[in-house]
Amino acid sequence: MSRAVQQMFDGIAPTYDTLNRVLSLGIDQSWRRKAVAALGDIHGRKVLDVCAGTLDLSLIAVDAGAEVIATDFSHAMLAGGRGKVLIPVVRADAQELPFEDASFDGVICGFGLRNLDDARAGLAEMRRLVKRGGRAVVLDFFRPRRTITRAVQSLYNQRVLPFVGGLVSGDGSAYRYLADSIERFASREDIEQLCRDVGFQSARGEDFTLGIASMVVAQS
Ligand SMILES: C[S@@+](CC[C@H](N)C(=O)[O-])C[C@H]1O[C@@H](n2cnc3c(N)ncnc32)[C@H](O)[C@@H]1O
Repeated sequence: MSRAVQQMFDGIAPTYDTLNRVLSLGIDQSWRRKAVAALGDIHGRKVLDVCAGTLDLSLIAVDAGAEVIATDFSHAMLAGGRGKVLIPVVRADAQELPFEDASFDGVICGFGLRNLDDARAGLAEMRRLVKRGGRAVVLDFFRPRRTITRAVQSLYNQRVLPFVGGLVSGDGSAYRYLADSIERFASREDIEQLCRDVGFQSARGEDFTLGIASMVVAQS
């Protein structure tokens, strides 16, 4: 499964940024800025960007003064971010990361957790890597609880996403996978609970844009 997901991201990497902006009408960047702000004051702090993709979150965190390391298992996605920001990048699986315990003041993961075979393992890794008092922020498209948001999101995911995604990237099936992954994913509340289960002291959530995207902020 992981291998197939990696190949899919390698395939859509060249058009990933353009499609993000088109599909969300540019709103995705405001979600990313809010997620980075939720890490707290990161000036001069070490931040790990997990499932960093083309480094959009890394760039925002660097602009906020953080010392950022980015990690992702797709070489092509990381390569897509090379022109944006000059930071260390490490190719690795988010479920088994090659860093020492408590080596970061903050960890952020944007639109990545939903792709992992085992979300619990990914969260446990974030918990392991964040110093006491630090935070992990997970930004994602969680399975919406509200019926109306679920209906609107399902229509968008099943119709607009594969159509526009297919048109621009040439790979409609990749965008169908992304749509299905949202519908299969846990709710924000489930992920908050999972954060507590893996040892975070507390976890709170916040919805953006009618709950289309949300973040979970977990305190170590
Ligand atoms: C939807 S992209 C998000 C990229 C970026 N964080 C953003 O905000 O645009 C998801 C990323 O997660 C990565 N990914 C998925 N599963 C992974 C895993 N098991 N280990 C490491 N990276 C993974 C993919 O390669 C892809 O770059």
